Amino acid sequence: NYVVQLARSGKEIQITAGTTLLEALEANGICVGASCREGLCGTCEVVVLEGEVDHRDSVLTDAEKASNRTMMVCCSGSRSARLVLDL
Ligand code: FES
Repeated sequence: NYVVQLARSGKEIQITAGTTLLEALEANGICVGASCREGLCGTCEVVVLEGEVDHRDSVLTDAEKASNRTMMVCCSGSRSARLVLDL
């Protein structure tokens, strides 16, 4: 479990096991473009401002993953207790 903070509104969303970040965002009325929902297309890319992402997609290169600057919200999670996203 971890918390996602949306930088533009300050809103915080709790992400629980079994729910993807994309699903949690959608449930809170946050529209993120998504297509494959499997970490393959890159449509759901979001800029990460704080926190350490647990990357599980096949879109970003290892270097991009290590840079921790963006994430695919359909399948990736968080290694830190909190992520701050540019949403
Ligand atoms: Fe395709 Fe996330 S929706 S990578």
